[in-house]
Amino acid sequence: MPTLQSLLKSVAYRLGFSLRRLRSASGLAGTGAVFDGRVRPLLHRTDPYVGFDATLWPDDCSGWGSDSPAFAELVERVRPERIFEIGTWQGGSALTMARQLDRLGLDCEIVCVDTWLGALEMWMDLDDSTRHGALRLKHGFPTVYFTFLANVARAGQQQRITPFPVPSITAAQWCSLRGVRADLIYLDGSHEEEDVYQDLVTWWDLLRSGGILFGDDWSWDGVRLAVQRFATENHLSISHLHDKWVIAK
Ligand SMILES: C[S@@+](CC[C@H](N)C(=O)[O-])C[C@H]1O[C@@H](n2cnc3c(N)ncnc32)[C@H](O)[C@@H]1O
Repeated sequence: MPTLQSLLKSVAYRLGFSLRRLRSASGLAGTGAVFDGRVRPLLHRTDPYVGFDATLWPDDCSGWGSDSPAFAELVERVRPERIFEIGTWQGGSALTMARQLDRLGLDCEIVCVDTWLGALEMWMDLDDSTRHGALRLKHGFPTVYFTFLANVARAGQQQRITPFPVPSITAAQWCSLRGVRADLIYLDGSHEEEDVYQDLVTWWDLLRSGGILFGDDWSWDGVRLAVQRFATENHLSISHLHDKWVIAK
């Protein structure tokens, strides 16, 4: 049984915590402060690529729909200054966008949000070499993050691509508190309906007006149902470009 003292302590803690969060969020919202610089120095005091030896990690950039022509077309359409990708895996899709940014000569940062711990489907079948196998567990913990870093380094995209290794919701909260917005957001993290819906709600608010939110895996029930629910509730229209669903703001 909790004592009265522990109950009061817990209420006080929760109240204090909520007020602190409200203050910082409303401080930014109140001034309308939108952050316009590079995100990298806000996230990493030390360059994540410094001292990293890419030769120790597999040269494997495989993914799902990661070289779709939709990436190049959307980058050209939006000409973004900042891209957020939710769900990066080994870096295939981020590198496809990076190459198009190079071709167009655009100064645009790509922030990759991923826990690099794998989505649900990557833990369902331990014999699935492309999903579970590519997590490359070491002492029971995934090392796919290092394959991603190695792929970025081999492609010479270290300046453009910034890893943000946290859950999607944490990254969205961070962006909200920091006033960080994006012009293009690619959603390819969890494919479970409630997670996708949560991603849509939180990341939509962080998209600049004129920007585009798009994603993969329309054929997955969880993705399709969440995107349709979100679009209906917000009177938005969904279009399709190659294998991606697209919602414009
Ligand atoms: C399908 S893979 C991404 C594929 C990648 N876009 C490509 O084209 O190769 C999904 C990724 O989302 C990540 N992920 C799943 N749920 C997440 C969450 N809630 N927050 C952050 N990352 C998540 C997983 O770790 C995994 O790397």
